[in-house]
Formats: sequence, C-alpha cells, structure tokens
Amino acid sequence: MTAVIMDGKALASELGARLKAEVERMRASGVQPTLATILVGDNPASKVYVASKHKAAERIGIATRSHSLPQESTESELAALVASLNADPDVNGILLQLPLPPNFDERAMLERLSPAKDVDGLTAANAGKLAHGESDLVPCTPKGIMALLHHYDVPIRSSRAVIVNRSPLVGRPLYHLLLNEDATVTVCHSKSADLSSITREADILVTAVGRRPPFTVVAEMVKEGAVVVDVAMNRVDGKLVGDVDFEGVSKKASHITPVPGGVGPMTVVMLMQNTIIAARNQSHVLVPTVTS
Ligand SMILES: NC(=O)c1ccc[n+]([C@@H]2O[C@H](COP(=O)([O-])OP(=O)(O)OC[C@H]3O[C@@H](n4cnc5c(N)ncnc54)[C@H](OP(=O)(O)O)[C@@H]3O)[C@@H](O)[C@H]2O)c1
Repeated sequence: MTAVIMDGKALASELGARLKAEVERMRASGVQPTLATILVGDNPASKVYVASKHKAAERIGIATRSHSLPQESTESELAALVASLNADPDVNGILLQLPLPPNFDERAMLERLSPAKDVDGLTAANAGKLAHGESDLVPCTPKGIMALLHHYDVPIRSSRAVIVNRSPLVGRPLYHLLLNEDATVTVCHSKSADLSSITREADILVTAVGRRPPFTVVAEMVKEGAVVVDVAMNRVDGKLVGDVDFEGVSKKASHITPVPGGVGPMTVVMLMQNTIIAARNQSHVLVPTVTS
C-alpha cells in the first residue's frame, strides 16, 4: 500500500480563496476583519510564525496590527496591552504568540484575552465550550486536522483514534473534536506505558511529540491502512521533519500528512477563519457566509 498524501498546503490555499471571497463580502457590508498579534521577546521561530500569519492575513484581506514587547517587559505591561486590544472595537482577534519568555505565567496571560477575541481558542471559556460540544473559536491546529480528515473523507464515527500529545494546543482540544464526531479516542503522553501497543490499534493516529530523535513513529507502531497525521516540527540535520518515519509509514498507512506541507498550513488558514468568525460574531451586520 502507498498512502494518499493529505496535502495541507493545497487545501489551505483552496480554503484561503474561499475566505478571501468571504472577507470581500464582509468589507462590502462595512465590516473589516482585523487581527492583532502580540510578540513578546525575540524568539526567532516565533518571529517567523508571526510574519507568516501576517502574510496569510494580507493575502485574504484581513487587516493586521503588529505589537511587540521586549524580552524584559513585565506581566503588567503585557496585561495592559491585552486590555487595550480587548477594548478596541476595531480589533476582532488577538493572537498572543507562544511561548512567552520564562518570566511570564502563560496561562494567566492567556486568560487576560477576551474570549470573544481569543482566535487561538485557548482561554478556559473557549476550551470549556468545546468540552461541552460547542464549537465557535476552536484551537487552530486541531481544527485544521479535522478539516483535513473531512476533506479526505476519512471515516471518524466509530473509528479508534489515538493522539500522542496532551497539550492544550493540540491533544486536549483534538480529543473533544474527535469525540464530538463519535470517534473512540485515546490520548497518550510521555508517561503512557507500552505506547506501540496503543498506537497499533489506531484507525486514526495523530502524533505531536516534537522530540525527534529519540521519539520517532515507525511502521511497526502503525496499523495497516491507518490514517496518520503528523503535527510535529523537528529540525534534524537542518531539515524540517515530523515525528513520523515518512518513508516507512507511508508504505503501510492509507493516508499520511507530509512535514512540511501538512498540518502547518492548515493551522494558519484556521487562524484566518477564526478571525473572520470573531469579526462576524462582533459585528451587528448580517454578513452571508461562504465558509462552514
Ligand atoms: N504544525 C503546526 O501547526 C503545529 C502546531 C502546534 C504544535 N506543533 C508541533 O507539535 C509538537 C508538539 O507541540 P506542543 O506545543 O503540543 O508541545 P508540548 O506541549 O511539548 O507537547 C508534547 C507532547 O508530547 C508528549 N511526549 C513527549 N515525549 C513523549 C514520548 N516519549 N512518548 C509519548 N509522548 C511524549 C508530551 O507528554 P507530557 O504531557 O507527558 O509531557 C506532551 O503531551 C511540536 O513539535 C510543535 O512544534 C505544530
């Protein structure tokens, strides 16, 4: 078997074109979706991620505001910036780029965001909604994974899904999204015993560990015909790779995401979709929607 490659780059570009059409309609109705980003410190990877989010927004017609705070800034300075953006009626979405420098309490800072503008879906209010089966502002990476599974007609109801990750960014929200669609979901982590015996049961296997080497998902850990979604980003010998031994696993899986070009571009386009949802929720103008 040679796996079908789930092309996140192509799907993200298709969705981006639909979102652009939606933003045009919103603008024609007097609503300009606007995303504010906050970057604290000078983490080079974070700078690249924020720049790529701005570029994607510009392509779609979403206006952007860029805010940077120096590494040595304080929690109260960040809280004041978040409060001013929460109160600004022209800003619909606020993205607080993670990780924050070590002197910040990340959880407490995220909770400063107005849930209505929390386009990463990371506040307790939005996570709680998702846990209750409501989806409004859902974290972008799991949302992008679900969009890929839907696009490739992967059966979710009654499937066995295994997620190797329990972070609030990936594993926890994805657990709820898959459960809400009637999968039987197992969440694994660094203390899970006999991981391979669990991953081998998966019809849908999602891995987001990001410690390669030593952690690698090899063919022996995968069931014949499984759908394998690789979220991780590792630098090995200067090359960007995921958790999965792509060559070996793609001979056994029915579907597989590449790294790069799989989940990454889907995450960015879902941030754009969340910004549009937030703008629509905050506007009092009824704007017809072309996205689901
Ligand atoms: N493509 C994208 O758009 C995108 C978006 C987000 C994240 N990512 C990537 O996804 C990866 C994870 O990100 P994250 O923010 O969720 O990181 P994280 O918070 O460090 O989570 C890593 C998870 O892997 C688990 N883990 C670590 N070692 C393990 C092992 N040996 N066996 C089984 N599980 C193990 C950890 O378990 P414990 O909970 O027990 O520590 C944790 O749940 C990173 O490579 C990141 O760059 C990509």
